Parts: sequence; structure tokens; C-alpha cells
Amino acid sequence: MASPLSLGVLISGSGTNLQAIIDTIERGELNAVIRVVLSNRGDAYGLARARHHNLPTVVISHKDFSSREAFEAELIKTLQDHGVELVVLAGFMRLLSPFFIRAFPQRIVNIHPALLPAFPGTHAQRQALEHGVRISGVTVHFVDEEMDHGPIIAQAAVPVYADDSEESLSARIHAQEHRIYPQAIQLFAEGRLEIRGRLVVIHNEARSPAATLRSPEPS
Ligand code: GRF
Repeated sequence: MASPLSLGVLISGSGTNLQAIIDTIERGELNAVIRVVLSNRGDAYGLARARHHNLPTVVISHKDFSSREAFEAELIKTLQDHGVELVVLAGFMRLLSPFFIRAFPQRIVNIHPALLPAFPGTHAQRQALEHGVRISGVTVHFVDEEMDHGPIIAQAAVPVYADDSEESLSARIHAQEHRIYPQAIQLFAEGRLEIRGRLVVIHNEARSPAATLRSPEPS
């Protein structure tokens, strides 16, 4: 088996997606290792989850930096120092600028609680309820320089019921998030994802060399 993919997971809150990734790795279904869990908030519950599994944690508060670039430079350095190959955004509530994104070309993934391109931005579940859609869901995508916009790796749909609250819809969406985020990361780890423009092609078999995206030519 190929060596495990080195992940850096960025969180700001509860970290249930982080937990799903940890559990999937521990079950042997995701060939990855979490090198660092990074939070911009010291009180993020996800940090406790990480520590419970003896994973390294780092808190970098945006409030300690005079500019977005200085904050992001510290994030980049921390991720690089830990040898991170794929940056996994899991409820990280800071917008990342092109400066950060260019430091990890095609190596940042995000999960969004709606079927993009519908309902980008915050409160996607509330947006779905207010719009009256009958179906919403989850999107895992590569991060590009526009918010909630990059090439789509995986999606899952959930029904929206007339009596749904934001909480009940969020719970249904979360269950799908916890299933498809680790699966999408495993596809990356197997080198099966290829970005062609705005599309992601999923190859049937792991490619040789094992992961094209993991071994880019230096620019
Ligand atoms: C998820 O709903 C995810 O789609 C969004 O932020 C939330 C994070 O939840 N980007 P959790 O902290 O993983 O529980």
C-alpha cells in the first residue's frame, strides 16, 4: 500500500467532520495520517477530540496578527512544518485569501452543507429552508480562489421536509458529511482525482505514479 497521505485539518468549532476522518482512519478505511489539527479558536471543541486521539494541535488566532497575510503566513508555515500534503477544511470559519490558496495548489479541500452552486456562504441550511427547496445536501470540493466554488469531488443529497428546522436539516446533512468527506479524501490519497478545468475526473483505479496530485512538478 502507498504511504499514508499527510493531512492538516483546519477547524473552528465542534469538529464532527474531524472526528469522522479520525474514525475512518482508525478503522483502516482511509490511508491517511493527521499531522496537525489547526484551529483559529482556542475553545474549539474539535481540539479536545484531536487531543483525545493524541493528535498534534496548534491554535493560531487571527486576532494575534495585524493582517490577514501575516495570519495566513503562520498557517502556511505550520502546515509545511508538519509535512502536510492535503489541507482539509472542516468547519474553518475564516476566509482564506489567494495568498494561502496558492501555497497549496490543488491541495485544499472543503466541505459545504449544501448542493453547490446552490447556497454558498454561511447559514447554507437556513438559506435552503428559506428558499423552499425540497432537496439539499453536501458538497466536497477543491478550494479555488472564489468562495465555495472550486471543482466538485463528491455530493450527497438529503430531503428537506416541511417541518424541518435548521437543526433537523443540519443533522441530516451532517450524517452525509461524515460519510462522504473521508471517502473523498481516500480518493485523493489513492491518486484517483484529476482536475480538468472545473471538472474533477475520478479514475477507476489508482494511477501510477500513485498520486499525480501528490507529486506536482515544481513551478
Ligand atoms: C459542517 O456543516 C461543514 O459543512 C461546514 O462547517 C460545518 C462543520 O461542522 N463547512 P463540524 O465542526 O465538523 O461539526
